[in-house]
Amino acid sequence: MFVTVFLLLVALCAHKGNGLEKEAGRGPGHVSVIIVGGTGDLAKKYLWQGFFQLYLHHAGAGNTFSFYGGGLSPAEKATPVLFEILKTVSCSKDVSQERCALLKEQFLRLSQYRQLKTLEDYQELAKQMEEQLQQEEMVEAGRLFYLSVPAFAYADIAEKINSSCRPTSGAWLRVVLEKPFGHDYRSAQVLSTQLRNSLKEEEMYRIDHYLGKQVVSKILPFRKENQRFLEPIWNRHHIERIEIVLKETLDVKGRIPFYDQYGVIRDVLQNHLTEVMMLLTMKLPQNLSSSDEVLQNKLEMLNSLLPLGKNQAVVGQYQAYKEEVQKELNQTKDRVSHTPTFAAVVAHIHEAQYEGVPILLISGKMLDERVGYARVLFKNDVFCLQNHNNVHCKPKQIVFYFGHGSLGYPAVLVSKNLFRPAGTDAHWKEVTEHKDAAVLGLPVSEYNVQVPAEDKEAYAELISHIFAGQKNSFVSTEILLASWALWTPLLNSLSGIFPRIYPGGSDNGDMLDVHLKGKEIKYNSEVVIISPDEMGGTSPSSYQVMKGKFRSAEMVSAWTEDLIERLAADMQDAAEAAVHQGGVFHLALSGGATPLALFHRLALYHFSFPWRETHVWMVDERCVPPTEQDSNFHNLHEHLLQHIKIPYHNIHPMPVQLNQRLCVEEDGGALLYEEELKKLVNDSSLHFILLGVGYDGHTASLFPGGKLDPLGKSLVALTESPTKPHQRMTLTLSAINRAHRVAVLVMGKGKHELVTQLSRTTENLNRVHVAELERTQNGLWSHPSKKTALDLSADALLMDLEFCNTKRLQ
Ligand code: BG6
Repeated sequence: MFVTVFLLLVALCAHKGNGLEKEAGRGPGHVSVIIVGGTGDLAKKYLWQGFFQLYLHHAGAGNTFSFYGGGLSPAEKATPVLFEILKTVSCSKDVSQERCALLKEQFLRLSQYRQLKTLEDYQELAKQMEEQLQQEEMVEAGRLFYLSVPAFAYADIAEKINSSCRPTSGAWLRVVLEKPFGHDYRSAQVLSTQLRNSLKEEEMYRIDHYLGKQVVSKILPFRKENQRFLEPIWNRHHIERIEIVLKETLDVKGRIPFYDQYGVIRDVLQNHLTEVMMLLTMKLPQNLSSSDEVLQNKLEMLNSLLPLGKNQAVVGQYQAYKEEVQKELNQTKDRVSHTPTFAAVVAHIHEAQYEGVPILLISGKMLDERVGYARVLFKNDVFCLQNHNNVHCKPKQIVFYFGHGSLGYPAVLVSKNLFRPAGTDAHWKEVTEHKDAAVLGLPVSEYNVQVPAEDKEAYAELISHIFAGQKNSFVSTEILLASWALWTPLLNSLSGIFPRIYPGGSDNGDMLDVHLKGKEIKYNSEVVIISPDEMGGTSPSSYQVMKGKFRSAEMVSAWTEDLIERLAADMQDAAEAAVHQGGVFHLALSGGATPLALFHRLALYHFSFPWRETHVWMVDERCVPPTEQDSNFHNLHEHLLQHIKIPYHNIHPMPVQLNQRLCVEEDGGALLYEEELKKLVNDSSLHFILLGVGYDGHTASLFPGGKLDPLGKSLVALTESPTKPHQRMTLTLSAINRAHRVAVLVMGKGKHELVTQLSRTTENLNRVHVAELERTQNGLWSHPSKKTALDLSADALLMDLEFCNTKRLQ
């Protein structure tokens, strides 16, 4: 049968001699292709089509093939599935319908399904391959196993291949693996060691499909072809920055069990974007087709990167992700995932050529458009006073455009004020007719544009490279480990960081814009710190206006930034009024993450705040040393105190650590704080107290169901929190009730229902004379009111907060 097919194809494909002829120096022979996971998604979408193309190109050049789709299911069940997939393969446009039908039929006849589960299954397969070679008197060229299965199965399958499916001597074995190749440095190392027990380095082909994208594989040839233009400018004196960006509009619904373990850094930055970065910045190899030289230069580049720490990254998560996680992982509503779906990272190369050139790697799901590109932006030292259309005033840049976006196709674009790229090989062409589009700030007509002569799918390209034994399009073990060595410390340092929540799509607005400062990267709108529970709307269209009253005062919705701005302004008004009246302002601030955005606002925008006359007190404190992250004072210091000019003696941390121990009743810390209050604050009435409300309905460190006597007279007390750290020191309700003004700031979609419940409490409620809260949305705070209006009854507050708690939406 194979001989017949071979002859037929010689006739059919005689005019096609254009495959990848360099087949690692071997003569043609018989090739067995085994796709393990042959009925899976990837195989269905790309692999069978890629192998069909390989077959078309190479059968004509004297090779014969047999194809096996392998899987765990029994053959009776999976064979029809495989054939449905095989029927969908297609020919290129230049092949007539009749010929295509014939070719497909041949391809189908060469393909079969085999169950590949046990060692015996692999042995049976090997037996069949050998018998076929003998019967048809064919010389074996090689065996190609494509493992399109989850990574945990690799080691076991590799072992089975090694023990039973190695080809006859002289023929090659190639085993193709798909990412993920580990989860971090250690797991990648473990996996590599396991694989090395069964396979030689040269037998492993780790796929990064970005290396098969036409524009990505053009980067090195482009650098070489244009070496005389690029060499003088490919350095820190001329390059402003490099951006490598993959923006996607899709979410990860349906992939959460995988994605939540990985996140965007592991899924895209560690591999695809890192590969592109290497191609752009590695030393240009003398010989581009030398895999050794290419891989060696890549490795050198990776090793010359400065370490990445948390100041080199910002992370985000699209808003709906949380619910997707809860649904797909069957988690409760309180499950909060930190997995980033967006990341922007800045890398630097520690080498004279690139010293100080920022390399931005950015990717995210649920962004405004689908586009991928690498842009090298050059410095422009011309200052144009008038004619901004002058060519010298335009951005100077080279854009490797992977596809999609405004242009819609892959291309290499060089702005005309740089140079006209050298003529290129037959696979690329220059285009001069342009659609009316702009790419990264320049109309396409302002670029010299080169595009692939024919569109080729990345997997098909890589399959032909595997066949040709071109290892430079694959990820070697050394590079894999070096890449994980770069990314793992960053991943570790980000593990406790809450990603910024973004609404998704064009509503993201400028939320994910970043700015670079020295070697660090930050979100541009740094003023708004999204607190851990901040899930609130962040653009006018995505927040809900809550109509309602809280104790007779209107509740007005505002999105986070507005809310914080107005609260800070109110606080300043109160401070100025108090200073005007009595020369001093006593302010008590609560802890937790919610007020951080307010602290930043005060520090960055309120330069005229009367800090010199302000005393800062604490609403509550956790019984931990002040140097710890958990300490409220630590946060207050980090985010506010160190940024403002306030006299040291105006700062009043709670004395939770006395006699070298924490919150021990006999040490009398609470009493000390109370005395300090009494001594310095007129009538112990603080001017302004900022409270928050926790998910369980607690405020300050007063927890629903706590043992503290709500009607007690003490101003400061020790309490117990149900969550760690358990011990707390807090202002009591009598201290809060004495204050001139109380603000309650509640932020976060997670607390939305809490706010709704507060808005429904009416004045008629039993014993309700709490603060007249003025504004809310994701937050609320008190109306300036007289002391009498702040007759905050302990029971009322706790009862209401408990009420909120029980009614809280899940
Ligand atoms: C894959 C990632 O490797 O690359 C996906 O797992 C991502 O999350 C995809 O969407 C992007 O590839 P492309 O070719 O669509 O840009």
